[in-house]
Amino acid sequence: MNLSKKLKLRVSEIQRYQDYRGLLHHMELNGEISNRMTFDNKETVVWCVNDYLGLMNNKESKQLAAEVSLKYGSAYPHATRATFGETKFHREFEEELADFVNQESAYLLNLGYAGICSIVDALTDRHDTIIYDQAIHACSIDGVRLHNGRKFCFKHNSVAHLETQIKRALKRHDPETGSILVIIDGVYSMHGEQAPLKEIVALKKKYDFCLLVDDSHGFGVLGHSGAGAAQEHDVEDEVDIYVATFTKAIGSLGAFVAGNKTIIDYLRYNTRSQIFSRTIPLSQLLPAQNNLRVLRKEPGRRIKLWNNTIRFQNGLKKMGINIGEPESPVTPIRIIGSIDEGVEVLLDLRNNGVFSYLVCYPVVPKGTCLIRMVPTYNHTTQDIDHTLNVFKKLTKKYPERLLKNHGDEKVVVSIKQTEKQDKGLLIRSATQGGK
Ligand SMILES: Cc1ncc(COP(=O)(O)O)c(C=O)c1O
Repeated sequence: MNLSKKLKLRVSEIQRYQDYRGLLHHMELNGEISNRMTFDNKETVVWCVNDYLGLMNNKESKQLAAEVSLKYGSAYPHATRATFGETKFHREFEEELADFVNQESAYLLNLGYAGICSIVDALTDRHDTIIYDQAIHACSIDGVRLHNGRKFCFKHNSVAHLETQIKRALKRHDPETGSILVIIDGVYSMHGEQAPLKEIVALKKKYDFCLLVDDSHGFGVLGHSGAGAAQEHDVEDEVDIYVATFTKAIGSLGAFVAGNKTIIDYLRYNTRSQIFSRTIPLSQLLPAQNNLRVLRKEPGRRIKLWNNTIRFQNGLKKMGINIGEPESPVTPIRIIGSIDEGVEVLLDLRNNGVFSYLVCYPVVPKGTCLIRMVPTYNHTTQDIDHTLNVFKKLTKKYPERLLKNHGDEKVVVSIKQTEKQDKGLLIRSATQGGK
């Protein structure tokens, strides 16, 4: 069959809404990244940028990007790291990152998605087994897809199921040639819950496996100095491979992986997306480095972020809105209803000067949607209170969609149905999105 003809028939869920371009997806938010921006020519409170510490628009960092671009060009060093893309800035920043997350060594990645996907691929061969949480980010899922050995998924955050899967893997593989790689996220990007890192790490005393944590949403946000989920749970020594993007708390582009020297040296020479693609340019690296330094110097940013998070999440919980139990700033407004019903709620929010976006199936189960809200350092008390007031009005208008207990039964059924439809956990996790 002709491929274009075939693609006409193969319309994905989100594509069914392609007429809503600009409204539901591919939206244009204008102005400097901040708590208030402009959408459709109107000022709005913005709740969807993962600018946790308000560093995306840091003046000094922008200045550094401008200066280095003027001097060398915006994409310098214009090469893969392994050919002639090396600079002293790359090496220096890697040392700072390793020191910050308390690991022996670190390696910069040009982008989080490509880098993490490739790391999963590079670490394992066909003799190895990958065991992964069903809710890990799409970049790790795609790494798992590349793996041509065994792969087992475990129920989200279920340590008991993880242990079952480890036992299953051990029964099947050859201890002489096979290793186990366990992949989790430090903070899950859709519902904001943390991984039970202490319990997962405790399993390492019983079984030999390597633990990879994608802490893109915990880096800069969790832990007493902001070093992330491993620090928060006091297990820094037990996380073998720590990865995080620069696109959230330190507001730039790129990412890094940290671990012991053997692992990092191996990845430096074997991560295909880094070997065959250009390195992070200095116009992104220097802002990321500067923002990391600000993060370390100004713990007050993290304190304000958490105060805002608590005020916002407590306000929503008090009025009975179903946000689950997030353990990070990521705040999911869980909606029971069809996509159209979710869109109605979203547009009502927008009409009241509150901006975010809708997450739909297959990222969340059929019959539910989610409006993902992210409090940041930049939000003011007025922003939070205004948004809570708007939600108060909406709970009166849409009680069955927004309030806890009103439709919980329906959700349980719909999750069960989805699992059945998806023939277990694999397909749903394979389509897992993430921001
Ligand atoms: C958990 C997680 N991992 C990885 C990524 C990918 O990072 P990047 O934006 O640097 O490609 C994201 C980004 O949305 C994420 O949320």
